Amino acid sequence: MYNVIELKNICKKYKVSEGKEVEVFDGLSLDIHEADMFGIYGESGSGKTSLLNIIGLMDKCYTGEYKICEKKVSEILKDKGVAYYRNMKFGYVDQNYYLIPKLNVYDNIALPLMIRRKEKRIINSKVEEMSEKMRIKDILYKQGDELSGGQRQRVCLARELIKEPDIFIADEPTSALDYKNKDNLLMTLNEINDEGKTIIIATHDENVIKCCNEVFEM
Ligand SMILES: Nc1ncnc2c1ncn2[C@@H]1O[C@H](COP(=O)(O)OP(=O)(O)O)[C@@H](O)[C@H]1O
Ligand SMILES: [Mg+2]
Repeated sequence: MYNVIELKNICKKYKVSEGKEVEVFDGLSLDIHEADMFGIYGESGSGKTSLLNIIGLMDKCYTGEYKICEKKVSEILKDKGVAYYRNMKFGYVDQNYYLIPKLNVYDNIALPLMIRRKEKRIINSKVEEMSEKMRIKDILYKQGDELSGGQRQRVCLARELIKEPDIFIADEPTSALDYKNKDNLLMTLNEINDEGKTIIIATHDENVIKCCNEVFEM
């Protein structure tokens, strides 16, 4: 099976006050195969976000070896750069549900496709499709800073899913969702997983874990 993500012997520490360090993990290794629905499971504070930040190229302060599609990350960074991976290969939904506050939901979702200079007509139809999937059609013209937590989470999911990324990474993507929206999200993730995309989800929700074909426990 083809490894999309390969981590070998990864150690992650945070520097805290006065030369002190907190070790989050030491010698972590895992493989994520193409088209896996891969769950990272663990209680709060176990290091899920730290691990996703490394996988998503948000954090470069660690030791060990990391390969994406069999290529060392150190080479990837020299070659095409982080921005290429973040814009073209990864969809990444973190735990902050950040939206550009003064843009409306439509423009927030459209942004990744505008960066790719897609035609207006295509952007329109994709935003339409995604907003239907994430059940946010009724709030498309509200501003980013006028939404509830659960609405913001769904808009952030839509903004990353619209990129149709090969690797979709989500940190506790159901944390602010009611059960209907949670079911709905899991259905959408299953759909894109069936299309062959790789999905990596950190969660402490057992119902989310049940949908995964591989689980790594922190
Ligand atoms: N920026 C940081 N500086 C120092 N310690 C951190 C930082 N981020 C996380 N930690 C610590 O690392 C550990 C793992 O945190 P995290 O990866 O956020 O876990 P989880 O996502 O599973 O809740 C925790 O003990 C947390 O306090
Ligand atoms: Mg976390």
